[in-house]
Amino acid sequence: MSSLFDPINVGDIPLANRIVMAPLTRNRAVEGLQPGPLTVEYYRQRASAGLIIAEASQISPMAQGYLDTPGIYTTGQVAAWRKVTNAVHAEGGRIVLQLWHVGRISHSSLLPDGAAPVSSTNRRPEAMTFTRDGFVPVSAPRALRDDELPGLVADYRRAAALAIEAGFDGVEVHAANSYLLDQFLRDSVNDRSGPYGGSIANRARLLLEVMQAVAGEIGGGRTGVRFSPMTTFSDTPLDSDPQALFNYVVEQLAPLKLAYLHVIEGETGGERAPAAAKAFDYAALHQRFSGAWMLNNGYSRDMAQAALNDGQADLIAFGRPFISNPDLVRRLREEAPLNELQADKLYGGGAEGYTDYPTLAD
Ligand code: PHB
Repeated sequence: MSSLFDPINVGDIPLANRIVMAPLTRNRAVEGLQPGPLTVEYYRQRASAGLIIAEASQISPMAQGYLDTPGIYTTGQVAAWRKVTNAVHAEGGRIVLQLWHVGRISHSSLLPDGAAPVSSTNRRPEAMTFTRDGFVPVSAPRALRDDELPGLVADYRRAAALAIEAGFDGVEVHAANSYLLDQFLRDSVNDRSGPYGGSIANRARLLLEVMQAVAGEIGGGRTGVRFSPMTTFSDTPLDSDPQALFNYVVEQLAPLKLAYLHVIEGETGGERAPAAAKAFDYAALHQRFSGAWMLNNGYSRDMAQAALNDGQADLIAFGRPFISNPDLVRRLREEAPLNELQADKLYGGGAEGYTDYPTLAD
């Protein structure tokens, strides 16, 4: 029986333990949408995680949806991320980057020349985003033409190559939380006709092309993907048959021999895993996947160990506890109390609520 604290090989990436830092948006990018010195320190402090999944980072200027989120499309961004990956590796940690395109969850003030956000649809959700002017409703999107999609796939491929150039151990493709790839997957959003709309196979086509491009570029053993089949984040209704949709997607990913698959159980940031597990058969996805299986959403130490014991997961990702506890791995091992989260310091700002949470050693 494996413990949370045992090493594991995830694709081509050897991890010291099975405790993962989930990707967490913190809106602290500096000039040029680069991670700054505070971000280097923030990830360095958390390098005892078996794996850090660095925060969602836009693959192009059109992929951004919130103020001050970092990118992975310029040489300056690559150089800045290199400082992060060097710091984490110097502490013996492992780190991958989450590749992000927000699709219709954006505002024109964040996009080049005030462009409309792009999506599978031109329908606007009743969702909010955070801009220079605070929280505002998202802008009306423009449905991408089919002939624009090869360029989008190329953006993912290039971002993956740049992430490896920046020293990351791999990437996670963000296909969760109602962002662009989820907007193509779900029939509640995707109202297209043609090769990328209609049937499950058509709605899954863009994601599968992206995964083939990314895994083809950097290797399946350095590539993961994240799904949230039951999340309605950002006014995005569930698919009419999420089980059939995600069963199909996971089956189609098999030839790529991905390093891991990361599933958010239930509502993102919402109900805890066991309650959520009743509404969707996550094990049916697990059965269809041969790589490492990562679960996330509201796990405690005991729930995480039980999931490993039952063979339900190989890895457990922790989000908010990793923000407030840089030494979360040690605290879980020693069953030490956890620091409280400063929720008003999550998005934007400086060191406060970012790099100033105390460790047990402090
Ligand atoms: C957010 O910025 O609120 C955010 C970003 C990425 C997610 C979820 C939420 O996957």
